[in-house]
Amino acid sequence: MSEIDVYAAMQTLRAVRRLRPDPVPEPVLRRVLEAATWAPTGGNAQPWRVIVVRDPERKQVLGQLYAERWAAYATHHRGLLANAPDAEKERAERMIAAGDYLAENFGATPVVAVFCFNPERMAITDAKLDRVSVVGGASIYPAVENLLLACRAEGLGCVLTTLLCTCEAEVRELLEIPEPWATAAAVPIGYPVGKGHGPLSRRPVEKLAFNDTWGAPYA
Ligand SMILES: Cc1cc2nc3c(=O)[nH]c(=O)nc-3n(C[C@H](O)[C@H](O)[C@H](O)COP(=O)(O)O)c2cc1C
Repeated sequence: MSEIDVYAAMQTLRAVRRLRPDPVPEPVLRRVLEAATWAPTGGNAQPWRVIVVRDPERKQVLGQLYAERWAAYATHHRGLLANAPDAEKERAERMIAAGDYLAENFGATPVVAVFCFNPERMAITDAKLDRVSVVGGASIYPAVENLLLACRAEGLGCVLTTLLCTCEAEVRELLEIPEPWATAAAVPIGYPVGKGHGPLSRRPVEKLAFNDTWGAPYA
């Protein structure tokens, strides 16, 4: 097991979309899965499961489904950037190129971790508000994030993807997911083609945190 400071891991946990097909050793995979199990959930209900997809045929089907969704997403994203500054367009093109690589090679990724959840076992305190409900996700995505951080510590590349949620019926049939379980994310995992993790581009604390009331500058 590799040792990495938790801050250093978070600071370099970027989306790694170029992954090698080399297998992930079982003890390593087991450790990142165990890290996922340590995540908090509402009422400790642990209403998530993860399907560790390694079967080549199932991965190929997931890859085909993903590639179709990715192509549509990339076209849409390019359209949104038509009038953006050149630097932003270049950044987006780099991301799209990496996304194209993932889409072409999704099926050859050694592991795809498909996270599922059971909405009937979740404490969704904002379910009845007149806005989109997000609290349920807080009993699922911390587990996903733990897995991502553990992958970072193990030198594995990975990326949280959600495009396959748009074809949940097909994924459900392929992976034999029973109702009412549903899908939250698919995480391709593998050793990176290049150096993998590295510096992030994020807004600073001053832009994201407020002092006591909304909009008050954080001092
Ligand atoms: C909720 C969520 C959904 C995402 N879905 C996808 C996806 O379907 N495909 C993909 O390539 N990346 C996906 N990402 C990765 C983001 O695009 C990525 O984290 C973001 O662009 C920042 O890039 P960086 O982490 O490399 O800095 C997703 C990330 C999140 C948090």
